[in-house]
Amino acid sequence: TRKMLAPTPPMGWNSWNAFGKHSINEKVVKETIDAIVANGLQDAGYNYVVIDGGWRDTKLGDNGELLVHPTKFPNGIKPLADYAHSKGLKLGLHVVPGSHDCGMDPVGGFNNEEKHVQQFVDWELDFIKLDLCRMRMDNCTSCPQYRFGWSEKTIEASYRKYSKLLNESGRDIVLSISAYSYRDWYPEVCDMARITGDIEARIHHGAYFNIDTTYHKHSSVTTIADVSSFYADKAVNGYWNDPDMLVVGNHGLNQNEEVSHFALWCMMSSPLILGNDPRNMSEFEKTLLTNKEMIAINQDPTEQGKIVQMDDRTRILVKKLKNDKYALLLLSLDRRGVYDFNYDISKLGFDKAAKVRDVINHKEISLDSKIISVKLDINSCRLFVISK
Ligand code: DGJ
Repeated sequence: TRKMLAPTPPMGWNSWNAFGKHSINEKVVKETIDAIVANGLQDAGYNYVVIDGGWRDTKLGDNGELLVHPTKFPNGIKPLADYAHSKGLKLGLHVVPGSHDCGMDPVGGFNNEEKHVQQFVDWELDFIKLDLCRMRMDNCTSCPQYRFGWSEKTIEASYRKYSKLLNESGRDIVLSISAYSYRDWYPEVCDMARITGDIEARIHHGAYFNIDTTYHKHSSVTTIADVSSFYADKAVNGYWNDPDMLVVGNHGLNQNEEVSHFALWCMMSSPLILGNDPRNMSEFEKTLLTNKEMIAINQDPTEQGKIVQMDDRTRILVKKLKNDKYALLLLSLDRRGVYDFNYDISKLGFDKAAKVRDVINHKEISLDSKIISVKLDINSCRLFVISK
């Protein structure tokens, strides 16, 4: 059986959204570690520092081993793990299971899994993000049942192999699968798994999609939330649906939208993996990302929150919390102006004597009836915790 390594959704930072493949290097990682400590992100719970694509050399070594990029990471990975550990943080790396990475460098782990997992142990890593990217199968590149050269059977076999090797490696290494859609075997195999393609820094596409399809063409914030909600019952007990790294602090969303994005990720019990540059954070960004009441909703493992109302103007999500409390998110997507929410809390078993707390603005709300009434501008939200 697998070790339980993530009883609550993992929290941390990943280099991809802010630095991509080319701007990531040893100096950035060290400065980011310092900034995570200095800006209170560590105190808020963010502890995994994950280096995404860009740390590898362009090929494997003569014995099939992973090679570190000689100029971007001249001292290798182990000193960075030591540095993270010296600050009480953990270190993770991005790797690919096939023949090629997403930039088409032939650096995948296929047939070298044992050797690579031993390298992760030697480097004292704590987290592996196992991407999908390419599998080169020259005889079958145009077969419709293959994506990037992978068949579903090969994908499952490959991830199961890594999972077993990591589980028996003697180190606690969180396994984060990044294979762009939900698959039924994920909860058995990993701690968290991506359920869609890469996040786009926009709230809404204004159109419906068939949620239960293998691959989703668009990955706006609400599309991802719709997909995650569809799989909400799979989460908890050490497996979490991963809706991708946060884009708070990156370009694309305004402040109301950043709040809505973060609130959705909290409601969905999503791994909270920052995608920003922690060395350069605005006060607004810092306040939002370290909001303890919102993070407490995220970290409550009672259940993954889900959508209870969904139309072209709104999303309403409910998440049951410990001690018979509930979190309630009201989100307006209304292009026509201000949306008038009137949410009846007797649906959750409460009456007007209930305690209702606005956890974005840190204040109690008093009700004169069992209806919560709020008016919200497009892409704005309100997040409440309700208790007896
Ligand atoms: C695709 C993943 O979905 C991204 O998060 C990132 O890891 C890139 N690959 C890296 O090439």
